[in-house]
Amino acid sequence: MTAIAFYSITGQTRRFIEKTELAAYEITDANPYYEMGEPYVLVIPTYDDEMLEPVIDFLGYNSNHQQLVGVAGGGNRNFNDLYIHNAKDIAKGLDVPVVFDFEFNGTPTDVKNFKKVVAQLGLKAVKHQ
Ligand SMILES: Cc1cc2nc3c(=O)[nH]c(=O)nc-3n(C[C@H](O)[C@H](O)[C@H](O)COP(=O)(O)O)c2cc1C
Repeated sequence: MTAIAFYSITGQTRRFIEKTELAAYEITDANPYYEMGEPYVLVIPTYDDEMLEPVIDFLGYNSNHQQLVGVAGGGNRNFNDLYIHNAKDIAKGLDVPVVFDFEFNGTPTDVKNFKKVVAQLGLKAVKHQ
């Protein structure tokens, strides 16, 4: 099983996660210090770096950066080269792959494909243990 942690500022990423009907932990500004304690995928929207500070705090907490298996980015392709830049930066910094990307709250196809990716990561995590 691979768990999910997500962050959302205007609700698009939250809506995407809700549509997947997968259990997920929402990182909040009020308390980003929650330990996942198991392998998980991080799903985040894209903004200027400082807007993602709660996510950085979350990643820095206890084992969260070690348990991260991949990052999914939500964004807007109109940003061109800056499309999902936070997801790319975090993935690079922690040496994990960008496992998925989607715009806004995702299309039905995005929802289906993300669920596949999560299931595949779950299998991989089991194999490597
Ligand atoms: C001020 C602002 C800056 C943004 N910058 C980017 C960006 O650099 N790259 C990108 O792909 N999307 C960018 N977006 C789009 C958001 O990441 C996208 O709408 C996302 O779905 C928002 O997720 P949320 O509602 O969960 O916060 C930006 C949106 C806003 C409002």
